[in-house]
Amino acid sequence: MIYPIYIYGSSVLRKVAENITPDYPELGKFVKDMFETMYASDGVGLAAPQVGKSIRLFVIDATMYADEYPELADFKKAFINAEIYERDGEEVSMGEGCLSVPGLHEPVVRPSRIRIRYVDEQFTPHDEQYEGYAARVIQHEYDHLDGKLYVDHLAPLRKTLLRTKLAAMAKGKYKAAYKTKLVK
Ligand code: NI
Repeated sequence: MIYPIYIYGSSVLRKVAENITPDYPELGKFVKDMFETMYASDGVGLAAPQVGKSIRLFVIDATMYADEYPELADFKKAFINAEIYERDGEEVSMGEGCLSVPGLHEPVVRPSRIRIRYVDEQFTPHDEQYEGYAARVIQHEYDHLDGKLYVDHLAPLRKTLLRTKLAAMAKGKYKAAYKTKLVK
């Protein structure tokens, strides 16, 4: 099942999401649907709040970038109840976009290395370190769980320049090539 993507201005994108328990109904199906929705909209990552569910779950499939970044060859995963507990390395600027903020692409500065704890669909715990592009995508998706969007990280001048566009988006003035939803 393909979900519509909630767009900037939707209140669910600004909520702090909740952890889930192993008895969460139809978790396996939800994870499958998250991947399906992400592929249908050409995304690299998708967080549950973007489909209107305020739970701490996101999926990533960055395997299509394996030519450029060989370490991404098998980077397809669901992260549940994740906690980034360490961020270090260099502060790196890289362009980001977001399915919930269609039509924009802006540079964001983030640390290059993270350590993260999470459980997978079987609730098996993992504790891993990521760098570079993987760390970038994880931090972007993780922000969604805390009600944050990448545009919150922009430099003040960029934010000012984008204010009108974002205000229009929140009123439904945007174009996207996938199913969307805007619920205040
Ligand atoms: Ni996003």
